[in-house]
Amino acid sequence: MKPEINNDIYNQLANDWWDPSSFLNILETGLQPLRENYIRESLKGAISPEVKCLDIGCGGGIITEDLAKFSDHVNGIDLSQASLNTAKQHAQEAGLSINYQHAAAESLPFKDNTFDLVTCCDVLEHVDDLGLVITEINRVLKPGGTFVFDTINRTLMSYLSVIWVAQDFPPTRFAPKNAHVWHKFITPKELQTLLLDSQLDIKEIQGMGPSKNPLMMLWYIFRLKQKKIDFAEFGDITQFRLMQSMAISYIGHCTKPR
Ligand SMILES: C[S@@+](CC[C@H](N)C(=O)[O-])C[C@H]1O[C@@H](n2cnc3c(N)ncnc32)[C@H](O)[C@@H]1O
Repeated sequence: MKPEINNDIYNQLANDWWDPSSFLNILETGLQPLRENYIRESLKGAISPEVKCLDIGCGGGIITEDLAKFSDHVNGIDLSQASLNTAKQHAQEAGLSINYQHAAAESLPFKDNTFDLVTCCDVLEHVDDLGLVITEINRVLKPGGTFVFDTINRTLMSYLSVIWVAQDFPPTRFAPKNAHVWHKFITPKELQTLLLDSQLDIKEIQGMGPSKNPLMMLWYIFRLKQKKIDFAEFGDITQFRLMQSMAISYIGHCTKPR
């Protein structure tokens, strides 16, 4: 039987998003620097306070807050109310104005053609109905709007690294069991098919992965397990970068035709 993904961890660990000692913090230190640059590049100089943004599956607001650095119109939605509470409080403390709402990616509470930018990063491999999520993203994007995503490929390499080493093998595991499940990972071809079915214009899909080789990764995992470094340091040291190989993860963007 296929294991079920445990999306309840975003309720259980909802207070931990910005905590350097929590595994969720890898998203902030390990992935967000790359994603922030990528999102800005995808907008190609169209960055302005007027850009209407939606971050789907915003969790504790790691991406959402970066969007609020340039836009005055930022929305974040998530299925976890507890994570949204953390996101709201963190934004308030940072003096950022963000509209957070409890909603499912499969049923977005927005009118057609609302957003210039939709981001959905590290979320597509968590949802119940991927096809419906892509249809909804296309619906709420304005003609000419940009959709930025990243997700995990379904390969032997992603099984070994994201499932076996990170979650299952006792000497190395550091993430909660079933935080990810392999059968929900998405090949670039599967995602491309859904994006094209929605008539989205794919601009680019690029590989991304940790900046250290597998042996060095193991070394830093052991340092993490021995508490010589915390998750923030681990994310920082092994920070994701763009690469040709899509064996583990990939990032990309599309536009909705005018
Ligand atoms: C791995 S976290 C990514 C959080 C954030 N995008 C980031 O990268 O910092 C996945 C998030 O997706 C949310 N999520 C999962 N399924 C969802 C759905 N169907 N609709 C909306 N949010 C969902 C979870 O609650 C969780 O906050």
